[in-house]
Formats: sequence, C-alpha cells, structure tokens
Amino acid sequence: MDLSVNLLDLYFENPLGPAAGPIVEGLENMQFFNNNTCGFNVAKTISVKGAIVPKPCIAGTSNTIYNCELWSELHSDVWIKEILPIIHKEKKKPLIISSGYQEEDFRYLIPKLDPYADMFEISTHYVKENLSGIVKSIRENTDKPIFMKLSPHVDDYLGFVKTVLDAGATGIVAINSLGPGTAIDLKNRSVLLAEEIWMSGPAIKPIALHRVYKIRKAFPDIPIIGVGGIGKATDILEFILAGADLVQMLSSALIKGRTLYDKIIKDLPKALEEYGFSSIEEIRKLRKETILKPVDKIENNPPSFNENCTLCMICVRICPAEALEKDNDKIVVDKERCIRCGLCQSRCPVDAIYGVLT
Ligand SMILES: Cc1cc2nc3c(=O)[nH]c(=O)nc-3n(C[C@H](O)[C@H](O)[C@H](O)COP(=O)(O)O)c2cc1C
Repeated sequence: MDLSVNLLDLYFENPLGPAAGPIVEGLENMQFFNNNTCGFNVAKTISVKGAIVPKPCIAGTSNTIYNCELWSELHSDVWIKEILPIIHKEKKKPLIISSGYQEEDFRYLIPKLDPYADMFEISTHYVKENLSGIVKSIRENTDKPIFMKLSPHVDDYLGFVKTVLDAGATGIVAINSLGPGTAIDLKNRSVLLAEEIWMSGPAIKPIALHRVYKIRKAFPDIPIIGVGGIGKATDILEFILAGADLVQMLSSALIKGRTLYDKIIKDLPKALEEYGFSSIEEIRKLRKETILKPVDKIENNPPSFNENCTLCMICVRICPAEALEKDNDKIVVDKERCIRCGLCQSRCPVDAIYGVLT
C-alpha cells in the first residue's frame, strides 16, 4: 500500500510526523524521529533566546494534555552550532524547522536556520499584531516553503490565512493548542500548572478538523498540515479527507508513549483498505473533486438492532428521549418518542445499532 505524499517537490514516505513540543526538543529527540518510521521530522520552536519555563508544565488525562510550555528552552546558538549540523548530516527525511516569534527574531534566525530546513513552520501563538510584517521578514530571508501555524484562539482564521499568503507564506499548519484554559488541583486548592494552560490531544480533534476543512474549502490549492488530536491511523485518513496534505501528532504520544508513531504508520495500510482507499495520494486527489459529502438528513430513521446486541443497556440509559427499553431478550424502540438524533448508534460498543447515522 502506497503511503507516500509528494508536496512542494519534497517526497514524504508517509504523511505523519511529530508536532513541535518536548518530544522534539534537543539532539537525541530529533535523532529519534530521524530514525523511526515518521515521514518527516520537526524541530521544537526555536527563538533567539531559550525559553524559561516554570515547572511543572505538563499534565495528562486519558484523552487530553494540559501544558504551559513555551518555545525551546535551548538557546538558538545550541540549535544552530550543535544540533542542526548533526541532524542535517544524519538526515533521512524532510526536516521542518519551527521558529518564533517577532520580526527581529526572524531577521536574525532565518538566515542561520535556512541551510538546515526543508520547510519552515512559524508559531504565531503569542503574536497579536504585525502578522504580515512577520511573514515578510521571513520571506526576505528564505526561498523555502513557509508554513504559518494557526492557533485556535484566532477567530478570523480565514482572514489569518489570507493575510499570511498575501505576505508570502506558502501554507498553513492547523492547529496549535486550544485555550487559554484553567485546571484546578483540588488537593492543593490551587490552579494546576498555571493560571493559563493550553489543551491538546484527542479532545481537540474536531476543532482541528474544522479549521483544516474550512481552510481547504476556502483555499483549494494551498498546502495544509493538519494537527490536533491525532491518535490512530483512521484519524490521519479523516484529516487527509478533510483537507490536510500531511499531519502531525504530539499529545497522543505524550499520553501513550512515542512508539505510537510507528504503530500508527504500521496500521495505516489496513485503515486505508478498510475504508476502500488504495493510497494517501488517492484521498488527496479524491477530495479535490468532492470535498466531503454532506450528511443525508432526509433518509434518517429510528435505530434498528442487529445480532451483535449484548443487551448491555448503554443505549437505553443514554437515550435523551427515553425511547428505548428492554423487552425480554431485545431492545425495542418507541418510534413516537425517538427523536432520531443518532446518539445511541454512536455510543454502541458493539456496532449493534444501525439506520440512524449514515
Ligand atoms: C507540551 C506541549 C508543548 C508544545 N510546544 C509547542 C511549541 O513549542 N511550538 C508550537 O508551535 N506548538 C507547540 N505545541 C502545540 C503542538 O505542536 C500541537 O500543535 C498541539 O499540541 C495539537 O496537537 P496534538 O493534539 O497532537 O498534541 C505544544 C503542545 C504541547 C502539548
């Protein structure tokens, strides 16, 4: 099964790479991703001076990561003189260098990072103004592709895309972590990590997919890297179908461990086959012709049950209309009460319900 992606004259063996974060901080981490099966490598966001990050700075639940990390804690000199020359020499795949944040940083950094980068990814997480000037200052110092990374707290995200493209950017990475938010540590009667924390992981996947989908609809031809909540092979297919060309993952690997990258890439051929695709490129071509079909709202029916039903009663307990009940050895539907919402089908653990959702 062909997992490769050709984008901007670069060859990617598969569409998955790491997202900027602690997992790609420093030489050994970068070497890990050079040697695993990911299709590309990414460097943690490099700014002129290393960030001073108050610790602790990361906490996890089963589907979310909270963090108050900043950019790389290493000074840019360490990256430029010690890490990137080695990574460049050992390089086995395209390298995206993430960098930040202001015009004066880029005038200094981009010429020094340029020899090592196949593409740039520019974090705008802390940028409140001068977006256009920032992009221009990067473009004046490199001919390489520039991907501007969208943070989900930007309301006018289509305006963001237009502004950066007009100023010379090549594509978009969507999205950075969601927030700011606050988590409470009840035992300590304090905030967890910091007053302002950022959320990522599977919980934010619909927001990331939404941005990718809407940006793809408005800008059919630009390169888009999708990121936010990816944790399994089918997530990658969803992102590519919604409009991404490549994808990145971080939080699921923080939750489950970094061997997850290889596992997901190994699972990809089976996922493609299961959903009737022959390659990643096929999905990219397909979505050019029809961008995601709308849901058929007319043919929607009350739920029907197949022989998989174990009478676990989840559907009965959760039905918001109380339209389901157990009758001897089966679940029956009160068709008058059923509001055809689809919740029961989506929550059935054994795929015993059909007919409500497509
Ligand atoms: C601990 C942590 C540190 C991060 N650091 C950076 C960073 O330095 N630069 C950046 O652009 N994004 C950073 N991010 C955001 C991720 O790159 C990514 O956009 C976001 O977490 C969504 O993807 P995910 O759900 O797969 O983690 C960080 C996220 C986390 C959780």
